[in-house]
Amino acid sequence: MDVCLSSEQQTTHLQEAPRTPDGCFALAAEGAPREEGTGGPPGDATEAGPPLPGLQQFVPTDYESYTQEHYLFAGAKIVIQESIESYGAVVWPGATALCQYLEEHSEELNLQDAKVLEIGAGPGLVSVVASLLGAQVTATDLPDVLGNLQYNLLKNTVNRAAHLPAVRELVWGESLEQRFPRSAFYYDYVLASDVVYHHYFLDKLLATMAHLCQPGTVLLWANKFRFSTDYEFLDKFKQVFDTTLVAEFPESSVKIFQGILKWG
Ligand SMILES: C[S@@+](CC[C@H](N)C(=O)[O-])C[C@H]1O[C@@H](n2cnc3c(N)ncnc32)[C@H](O)[C@@H]1O
Repeated sequence: MDVCLSSEQQTTHLQEAPRTPDGCFALAAEGAPREEGTGGPPGDATEAGPPLPGLQQFVPTDYESYTQEHYLFAGAKIVIQESIESYGAVVWPGATALCQYLEEHSEELNLQDAKVLEIGAGPGLVSVVASLLGAQVTATDLPDVLGNLQYNLLKNTVNRAAHLPAVRELVWGESLEQRFPRSAFYYDYVLASDVVYHHYFLDKLLATMAHLCQPGTVLLWANKFRFSTDYEFLDKFKQVFDTTLVAEFPESSVKIFQGILKWG
C-alpha cells in the first residue's frame, strides 16, 4: 500500500518521513495512526522500489526561496507552496487549465472513486484538485521534488478528500514495468500538465504515457504551446494515441488533449 497521508502528520515530520518498501512515502508520524485502505493503485504491496533520495531538499527550511499561491477549485481554498529552486516546484499554466477542466467536467468524467495517476505532478495542484473531486490519486515526479509535492498534498487534502493521495517516484522511461507493472496497475485517468517543454526526455515521456494507459484509460494532457518542438511532440503523440482536443485557453495558449492509446 503506498498511500501514506495521515491526518496526524505534521509538516515538520516530513523530513524524517519513512518509506514503504515500494518507494512511497509513509507519512504516518511516530505514534500516529496510519491511514490504511485509502487511495493508491491496487496490488503494489509487493513491489520493492529504490529509496527516494532528496526528500530533505524540499522540506521548507529555506523559507526565503518559498512562496505560497492560493487557488479556488472544487469549492475549496487551496494553498500551494512553491519554490524558485526547481521547475517542478512551481505551478505552470497547464495545471490551472487542467484543474478548471476537471472541475467543470467532474461529473461527466466520473471522477468519484476513479483511479488517477499524474505524471510530472510538480507542486501538486492538479493532484490536489483531482483528490478533492473524489478521485483516488497517485501523484508522481522526480525524486527531488517529492517532498514539496507531498507537503502540498498533505496540506490540502487531509480531512477534505475522500481518498488521500499517494506520492511515488516515477522517472519517465525508467523501470516502468518493474515499478508500475501493467498487470498490477490500472488507471482510469492519467493526467499530465506542462510536461512538454525543452528537455531531453520527450521520447521517454511518450513511452511512459503509453505504458500507463490500458484499454479504458483516458489520458488528459494539458500544455502551453510555445515552441515548434511542442507541436512535434503533439505529432508523435497522435501516432500513439487517438487524440481529441477537448479544451483550449487562448489567453494562456494552453490546449488540453484527450488521448486514448491505440491498440494493435
Ligand atoms: C514544467 S513542470 C510542470 C509541473 C506541473 N505539472 C504543473 O503543470 O504545474 C514539469 C514537471 O515534470 C517533471 N519532470 C521533468 N523531467 C522528468 C522526468 N524525466 N521524469 C519525471 N518527471 C520529470 C518535473 O520535475 C516537473 O515537476
